[in-house]
Amino acid sequence: MIDIHTHILPGLDDGAGSLDESIALAEQAVQNGIHTVIATPHHHARGYYTSYEQIELEAAKLNDELDKRGIALEVLVGQEVRVYDELLQDLEGGLLTTLASTQYMLIEFPSANVPKGADELFHELRLLDITPIIAHPERNRELAGNLRLLSELVEAGALAQLTSSSVSGNMGRKLQKLSLEMCKKGLVHFIASDAHHAVKRPFDLAQGYDAVGKQLGQAFVDYYQLNAQRLVRSGPISRETPAAKRRLIFW
Ligand SMILES: [Fe+2]
Repeated sequence: MIDIHTHILPGLDDGAGSLDESIALAEQAVQNGIHTVIATPHHHARGYYTSYEQIELEAAKLNDELDKRGIALEVLVGQEVRVYDELLQDLEGGLLTTLASTQYMLIEFPSANVPKGADELFHELRLLDITPIIAHPERNRELAGNLRLLSELVEAGALAQLTSSSVSGNMGRKLQKLSLEMCKKGLVHFIASDAHHAVKRPFDLAQGYDAVGKQLGQAFVDYYQLNAQRLVRSGPISRETPAAKRRLIFW
C-alpha cells in the first residue's frame, strides 16, 4: 500500500520528534502493509514552517537510515500546506512542494471553516497545472456540516483525502458515518493515515481499508488504492467512484 499523507520525518512538526520515533513509525508502516509513504510535514499551521529544501534533506537522511536498518519503506517528499495569503508567492519562490514531485498538492484548511477565497486559490493553482487535494475534509467543521460545499470544490477540480482513523471508526461512530457518506457520494478520492506517532496517532491504513471493504465493498478499496498508485506516478486520478458507477447502471 501507498500512504500519501504522513508526518514521519523527525523534528519538523508535531509528527515524529526524533529519529527513533521515525524508525518506530516506519516499522509500524511496514507491519501495516505499506511500502511507500509520502512525508507531508505541516507548513504554516500550528506554528510549523517547513521548506521544500528542509523536507528533501530530512527525507534523504531517513531513507538512508531505513536502508541501513533493512526496513523496506520508501519515503517520498511532500508537504501539507495550510491555506495562507502568500501561498502562491511562496510556491513561485520554491519554498513549497507538491506530493512526490507530481502535479498534486496537499492543502489543509483550518479545522473550523473553509477560508474565504479558497475557491479562487484553487483556481489559481489549477492555472499552474496543480491540482489541490483537500486534506481530511471530514475533520473540517464547515465541510462536515455542508457536503454541498465540498461537492462544489470537487466539481471545480479539487480532490479530497479521507483519514483512515475517521473511516475505521477509531474516532467515533459519528465521524465514521460521515466518512462513509463522503465515500458513497464520491466526494473523496484517497484514504491516508496522517500518522504522527506510533502510539498516539499510528499507521492504521489497513484498518481504514478494512472498514471501507466491509461497509462499501472491495471495489471502493481498489478504487482508493489505485488512485494512490496513480498519484505517485503523476497519473490522472479517477473521479468515477464505484458508487457513481452503480448509480449509472441503476438509472
Ligand atoms: Fe497531516
